[in-house]
Order: sequence, then C-alpha cells, then structure tokens
Amino acid sequence: MGRPSAPRPPATPDLKTGHDLMSVLPMTAQVKDGHLWIGGVDMVDLAAEAGTAVYVMDEATIRHQLSEYVKWTTYHWKDVDVVYAGKAFMSLAMLKIVADEGCCLDVSSGGELAFARRAGFPMDRIYVHGNNKTPVELTECLDAKVGRIVVDSFEEMDRLSALASERGINQKVLLRVTPGVEADTHDFIMTGAEDSKFGFGRNQGLAMAAVKRAIELPGLDFDGLHMHIGSQIFALNSFSKAIEVIVEFIAEIKAETGVGVGMLDTGGGLGIAYGIPDEPSTIKDYGKVVVDGIKAECEKHGLTVPRMAVEPGRSIVANAGVTLYTVGSIKEIPNIRTYVAVDGGMSDNIRTSLYDAHYEAMIANKADRPREMVATVAGKHCESGDIVVNDAPLQCPDVGDILCVCATGAYCQSMSSNYNKQVRPGVVFVVDGGWRWAVRRETYDDLMKCELG
Ligand code: LLP
Repeated sequence: MGRPSAPRPPATPDLKTGHDLMSVLPMTAQVKDGHLWIGGVDMVDLAAEAGTAVYVMDEATIRHQLSEYVKWTTYHWKDVDVVYAGKAFMSLAMLKIVADEGCCLDVSSGGELAFARRAGFPMDRIYVHGNNKTPVELTECLDAKVGRIVVDSFEEMDRLSALASERGINQKVLLRVTPGVEADTHDFIMTGAEDSKFGFGRNQGLAMAAVKRAIELPGLDFDGLHMHIGSQIFALNSFSKAIEVIVEFIAEIKAETGVGVGMLDTGGGLGIAYGIPDEPSTIKDYGKVVVDGIKAECEKHGLTVPRMAVEPGRSIVANAGVTLYTVGSIKEIPNIRTYVAVDGGMSDNIRTSLYDAHYEAMIANKADRPREMVATVAGKHCESGDIVVNDAPLQCPDVGDILCVCATGAYCQSMSSNYNKQVRPGVVFVVDGGWRWAVRRETYDDLMKCELG
C-alpha cells in the first residue's frame, strides 16, 4: 500500500511544514486544503465532532504493518508466527484486526487475556508472557486453553506443572532465556542483559537447568525458547548477535539432552520513526536478518530449523496513531520559551516525562504552513514535568487550534492513567473516509465506578 502523494510545497529548507512529517505519520496521511487528513478523514472536522483529546488510529496502517510482518517473515521460512505484542495498544477493535490478519497475540496479564477472550481471539494463537504470573492467571490460561505459556522462573514452572497435571493437561511452554546481549538503539552491549528480572540467564547455567526441568516435569510440553532483547532497536545486528547466542544454546540442549527445540521466538523490538531524522530498519530487512539468520545459524550447527515467532508491538501501531488536542493557552516567556498548553498531557502520554521521548507535532488546521516557531507542548496536569513535546517546531499557534502529536499509537493509551482524575481520551479508528469510536472517552462516572463510598 503506497503513501498517497501529497502535493509538495515549494522547497522550504529551514521551515518544516506538515508535509515534512509524512515519515512519522500514518501511511494514509495527507495535507489537503490546509488541513491534516488521515484515512480520508479531515482531522479538524474529526476533532470538532469527537471532541479532544482523542487518540486516532489508522486501520490501513495497522493492517499494512501486520501484513508486512507476515509477508517478510514467511518469505524466508514457511513456519513463522507473527505475534502482536498487545501491551503496545490493545482494544477489542484492535484484536479483531490482529485476528483477521491471521496473526497471534502476546498477552502479559490476566487483564490482557480477558480482552482477548472478549474479542473472541483464537486461544490457540495466544502467547502468555510475564515474569510473575500469579496462580490465578496461570489457572485462567489453562482454563482458556491458550496456545503457549512463556515460562519465566522455576517457581512458575513448578506451579504450572502442578496446575496442568491436576487438570490432566500437557501445556505447551517456551522458556524465556536471557542471551546476555542487550540491544540499544544503535548497537549491542554484551553483558548488561544478564542483570534482568526476566527469564533464565544462559551464561550462569540457569537456562540449561530450566530446560532440563521443563523436559522432566509432568504437565509441561517443552516446545522451545523465547528471548526479547529490547525495544526501539535500530541496529539489526543486535538481533543477529542474540540469534547467534541462542542457536548455539539450542545446539547445547540437543547435545546434552538429545531433545530438539520445536520453536524459537525472538521477541519484538524493531524501532520506528518518532522524529524526522529517524531512519529505522524496514520490516523487510528485519525479516531477512531474523529469519535467514536463524536458518543460517541452525545450518552451521547441523540443527533442524525450528518453527519461529516474532513479537512486534511498537512497529505495528506507533506510526498508525496520532493524538489530537485543543490548544487552551499560550504562554510566551520572553527569551526563555513558549508553552502551548493542551487539554491532555502526561495522563495520555507518559513517555515524554518517563523516557524523555521525542515527538513531532503540528497544528492540524494549519498543516500546510511552515512550522516556523519552536514551542514546548505542555499538558494540563499539576506537575512541571508534564510535557508532551519538548521544543517542538510548530506553526504559530492560536487558542482553539487543533494540535496533533504524531506517532502516539504505541505505549500511550496503554500506559495512560487518571492522574488528577483526568478522564482518558477515547480511541477513534479511521478507515476509507469514515471514523468510528473503538473506545469511548471516559466519563466522571467511569472514574468513580469502583468507589464504595
Ligand atoms: N515481546 C515481549 C516479551 C516484550 O516484553 C515486548 C515489549 C515486546 C514483545 C514488544 O516490543 P516492541 O516491538 O514493542 O518493541 N513502554 C516502553 C516499551 C516497553 C516494551 C516492553 N516490552 C515504551 O513506551 O517505549
């Protein structure tokens, strides 16, 4: 699916307009009649009808990203599960799309599993994560007949074995292994990841001990290994390095126990463009590096190539989403900065204050004008750290303008809160020139629904 070609304005090397933000916006984004359009819907009209703040998700981009993963992983190997990491963004509408595209789902809590059940998601396509699944959650998983549980500790393994045996079930499990390779955006660092609350360290012998126990314990069907080396990764060689280490471990398992590994799940982590200079790797290249990498390493060690799984979250939904706000006040502090305050903030996007994340912003009703000033987009919460975008190039704002923050589809709604008793924005899906509420905006009654007085 190609990006619709928006007419380019005359070259303005220093002044970025909305047109220059196409690389961080959904693939259907266009600048038309001075407004930002997504999915064939005018964002200014949408804001007027739906109100702000509101999350907008472009269905075409989500479907495109999922299908790219399916295409470029199964291009290299017949058996690859594309497992959407639901923690990035989960709603019933989203889960229906994931199921519809033939993908699997990573859930990491009983709550996420409950969403999957309510959405009618096929349970055999569920991968269950979490470093401290409670006995209740494990029971829920067994009762729901989930496909695979990714075991993270010895205690969990024993608990699961007992629960599965009681029920006369043989539950498929993967073991989460910490390969000792920690990825960052630009390179990999060997060691850091060993100090992790997740998984069994390979270098300390814990991973091998875990494999042997999983093979022996009743109620467990040892299916293979899982790893996840990090998130927002740009350098694909981080994945290559980790694959080298984990396939070597598969060879050791074969040599020591005689048991073959049926599945290798390499986790998620592919980075996305938040800012104009960001140039993440493509899904096509990622598929080649990961899938061909596993095949090549298996060949090197004389191993049968296992079934594979990848678990993308951010790279499916981040660029599919934007948040629309209304500008409420503009404070120009001479010689210091200009604050543009919006009707949301750290309750709908904690990533800026939590990770110093970078975002691009634009005024949706002035999309074809140059972003000629730099302003800090602040939220409405009682904290000076409540910033949505630091030093954002922006069109000159006026009170009442619709401000769009780009690439907010991942880890914003899913990490949102009711701080200051702020109601959470709803989520609108746009597709083919129409829009619908996928999640309605909260009400004050919603805020009080658990209060017992
Ligand atoms: N699989 C596992 C086991 C994970 O823990 C994660 C993310 C993923 C897959 C998906 O990774 P992705 O493709 O989205 O990078 N809150 C942070 C991100 C935390 C990621 C946690 N695990 C943020 O806002 O940047």
